[in-house]
Amino acid sequence: MFSVQVDWNYATEQESLIIGLIDKPAKFGGLLAELDQLLDGHLTQLVKSGDISAKKKAISKVHTFGKIGAKRLVFVGLGKENELKFETLKEAFGKVFKTVRANKLQETSVLLNSFVTEELDENDVAYALSEAFALSTYKFEGYKQKSNEPANELEHINVLGGTDEAVINAALSVGYTLGKGTNSARELVNLPGNMLTATDMANYARTLGEKYEFEIEILEKDEMEKLGMGALLAVNQGSVEPPKMIVLKYQGKETWEDVIALVGKGITFDTGGYSLKTKEGIVGMKTDMGGAAAVLGAMEIIGELKPEQNVIAVIPSTDNMVSGNAFKPDDVITSMSGKTIEVLNTDAEGRLVLADAVTYAKHHGADYIVDIATLTGGVIVALGMDTTGAFTNNEELFEQVLEASFEAGEPMWRLPIFEKDKERVRGSKIADLNNSPGRDGHAIMGAAFIGEFAEETPWVHLDIAGTSTSKKDTDLGTAGATGAMTRTLALFVERFEPIKK
Ligand code: BES
Ligand code: MN
Ligand code: ZN
Repeated sequence: MFSVQVDWNYATEQESLIIGLIDKPAKFGGLLAELDQLLDGHLTQLVKSGDISAKKKAISKVHTFGKIGAKRLVFVGLGKENELKFETLKEAFGKVFKTVRANKLQETSVLLNSFVTEELDENDVAYALSEAFALSTYKFEGYKQKSNEPANELEHINVLGGTDEAVINAALSVGYTLGKGTNSARELVNLPGNMLTATDMANYARTLGEKYEFEIEILEKDEMEKLGMGALLAVNQGSVEPPKMIVLKYQGKETWEDVIALVGKGITFDTGGYSLKTKEGIVGMKTDMGGAAAVLGAMEIIGELKPEQNVIAVIPSTDNMVSGNAFKPDDVITSMSGKTIEVLNTDAEGRLVLADAVTYAKHHGADYIVDIATLTGGVIVALGMDTTGAFTNNEELFEQVLEASFEAGEPMWRLPIFEKDKERVRGSKIADLNNSPGRDGHAIMGAAFIGEFAEETPWVHLDIAGTSTSKKDTDLGTAGATGAMTRTLALFVERFEPIKK
């Protein structure tokens, strides 16, 4: 995967050497000056003529014609030094790895020092490099019959230069772990509904749990009935696939306290139920378990990094189908909490399964709850496809999730839940709550509904309906599942500080 060589020189033979180029074109310092000399000053000239560009994420390839050990140099522009952000660095690495991969190289070298700036040290660079490597080389294999062409994948990176090999190796491992966990989430989201049922998701979670020695609990339908999980059961009612309530417990502290619950919506396919989606709107609804996938991806990272925290993952999983048995608009159901719900829209099913999951998380001693869900089209209207919608009943918890999202480079933006909003979800004539108070502000309605079950427990809700998939390829991913907020959840757990009551 990665090999690190702090001591090396330009005579070392390599297929390609990736070099970061900060935008100060007048002259090169340090290593680049040395390289320029070895190349008879051509480097300076090529930069002047614009054949090598230092513009943000510009890629320029140069042959060395045997003058040095590397056959070719691949320059990636980093823009102005004082403007270079960690996130841009990751994207630059992602873009250059994609280029190298397109050239069918299985191995490449990266000159680490050339990416180090005032702001970003070699720890940051190694972290960015390895995360970008994992993210940018991910692709969903799919189900096409295999061609005879041999696979030619970029598999190995030689990291050259730097000062402290131990620091570099540790950072490479963290970044790669974060990237891999995200790719696991992407893989689950990309799987079609017939390939990933609730049973499949439970089996996946069980395998993951066994690998990292988590405590595993998977509730079957009869156990849900005993516990009175009427909301999850209602959504499952029209399905031939049994529902699963998946629980994974990770104890990183001596005692079971300060428990963080990660609750992820696991709808394996959302037809809308009797409030049926349109033939356009229904396509893509295999991705309605993006929240569950982010939670499982984060649990994988947690299993690898073993933070000193207590975490419980709770995933309510089923599909949302139509049949003679299915639940209907106007039905009144009783959730595990005892709260009754008037169903006005069977397509507002995410909040129903999450209601019972949040209640169940509390039964397991959750002191803090972060739920994550592809919950509403409304959040896409409000914030677009690049920003996750966030809601909370606790400023301090929110701040901690926000910090993690900054570090992960996964933007989120807060939307409010005011008293008037709560009144709307409580506005049923015949039940405690209604699941769909109308389209006005409906991302807020979804959040406010889940908040009724979090009650006094500090809680953050993340609506990833927009961010969990991408319409186009990006520097760090492909069209399809993004694995959004997997890293945010993992970093949030890693850095979590209990809130004083
Ligand atoms: N799974 C959908 C939300 C969704 C929409 C996810 C688009 C990804 C892309 C959710 O269950 C849903 O159907 N929400 C409804 C809520 C409405 C009925 C109150 C919606 O957004 O229209
Ligand atoms: Mn729905
Ligand atoms: Zn849904």
